[in-house]
Amino acid sequence: MADNKIHKIHPVAEGNVPPSDESSTSPSQLTKTKRGFSFCKCICWSLCIFITLILILGATVGVLYLVFKPKLPQYSVNRLTISQLTLNLDLSLYAKFNVQITAINPNKKIGIFYQKGSHLSVWYKNTNLCQGSLPIFYQGHLNKTVLNVALAGQNQYGRTLLGALREQQQTGRIPLDLKVDVPVKIELGKMKSQKVRILGKCLLIVDSLSANNKINIQATSCKFSVKL
Ligand SMILES: *[C@@H]1O[C@H](CO)[C@@H](O)[C@H](O)[C@H]1NC(C)=O
Repeated sequence: MADNKIHKIHPVAEGNVPPSDESSTSPSQLTKTKRGFSFCKCICWSLCIFITLILILGATVGVLYLVFKPKLPQYSVNRLTISQLTLNLDLSLYAKFNVQITAINPNKKIGIFYQKGSHLSVWYKNTNLCQGSLPIFYQGHLNKTVLNVALAGQNQYGRTLLGALREQQQTGRIPLDLKVDVPVKIELGKMKSQKVRILGKCLLIVDSLSANNKINIQATSCKFSVKL
């Protein structure tokens, strides 16, 4: 311990020496310190400008937020119908579903442009059954739109999949996942944003999968987020 203390004292004593050295600096050393000083000044100014820009940006975002009061759009699945769920000759499973989705834009000052390239898909336990896309349209302020989306797909492991679905159907509760990936542009007043993506996943529990029958959706739970 005592040794340690002595070691700590030493550097301080040495550090006291340089100032006396600097008081007798040669001209070349002086320009060096001057240059060092202006370099410091430059960094200081850059930092000030940077911080000011960040503050302005933050204030702008804050004001935009207060003016537009953005809210996430709301989606719900009203209905699911199956027009086809058949085993092909090559033993692949062909599925054709129809989902009815209600999309609500709860914003008073924000419009939503639904872009092309959206992707909706229905899954049963990590197996893709069918997919489709939303129409391209503009959803205005406080607008509620009902969308009918046709989804179709083919799965090569038809027999296994159909067997699993039939077995599940006997329990009367078939869990299906609806995954949504929709590119949109946001309209703020007269401005139009870059493309952002609305990502969502809904768990639908249905009572049957028989084609052309009324299928009851027993439960839905959806989660949505926006990806920049
Ligand atoms: C909502 O938006 C859709 C699509 O743009 C439009 O067809 C519909 O008329 C709008 N509904 C209302 C109530 O304005």
